Amino acid sequence: MRIPLIAANWKMHMTTAETREYITEFLPLVEGVNDVEIVLAPPFTSLAVAAKFLKGSNVKLAAQNVFWEEKGAYTGEISPQMLKDVECSYVIIGHSERRQYFGETDETVNKKIGAAVATGLGVIFCIGETLEEREAGKTFDVLKKQLTGGLRDRKIDGLVIAYEPVWAIGTGKTATPEQAQEAHEFIRNELRSLYGDVSESIRILYGGSVKPENIATLMAQRDVDGGLVGGASLKPDSFSRIVKFKETQGG
Ligand code: 13P
Repeated sequence: MRIPLIAANWKMHMTTAETREYITEFLPLVEGVNDVEIVLAPPFTSLAVAAKFLKGSNVKLAAQNVFWEEKGAYTGEISPQMLKDVECSYVIIGHSERRQYFGETDETVNKKIGAAVATGLGVIFCIGETLEEREAGKTFDVLKKQLTGGLRDRKIDGLVIAYEPVWAIGTGKTATPEQAQEAHEFIRNELRSLYGDVSESIRILYGGSVKPENIATLMAQRDVDGGLVGGASLKPDSFSRIVKFKETQGG
């Protein structure tokens, strides 16, 4: 049984005051939800305040990026140990925006995954094809390359994969449930060939224009185990409705 995981990726949004307000409003909305793992990924500057306000709640904390060294002369970087220090349970690694704007490659993603796992952080490892790659029929090739490159020689303890087709991010264009299932099934099969039966326990999240209106049909797909939500996670009400997708499903 894979416990669904729904994560909010706030990207570069929210001051510390806004973070505190959000959490104060959000926690009562998801009180008692214990059959879904709920994760918030604020920007680095809000992690400490988020940790303080989430303490003792059913909501976990994630960072949006990490560097692979433990400490040293790496101006502007944050280590896995520093994320543990502010009580992060997870870290998002390899988001397409980091690949697109900040030069992340399968190699740097691979180093980051190694360091995060070694520090005991859960990893939300993002992969996904661009529109151009999809239209050229290369979706599976791209997913396979990103998966094998990112996971080379890596343990997969605490690993979560997020399939985020780049063309669906922030565009309002969601993958159809069938497109999502097809990609997720491919990813699970690849994980099986790399790691064997443990692949059945790895959660694969879908990301890309997830909203309260489409989460239930996405979650109904066999290999969709959760969501990584950008825009629709910025309002407590909208994100809480996504977290409570089971209620929507029931009508
Ligand atoms: P949107 O939900 O805004 O499309 O963003 C998805 C995403 O990139 C989550 O990491």
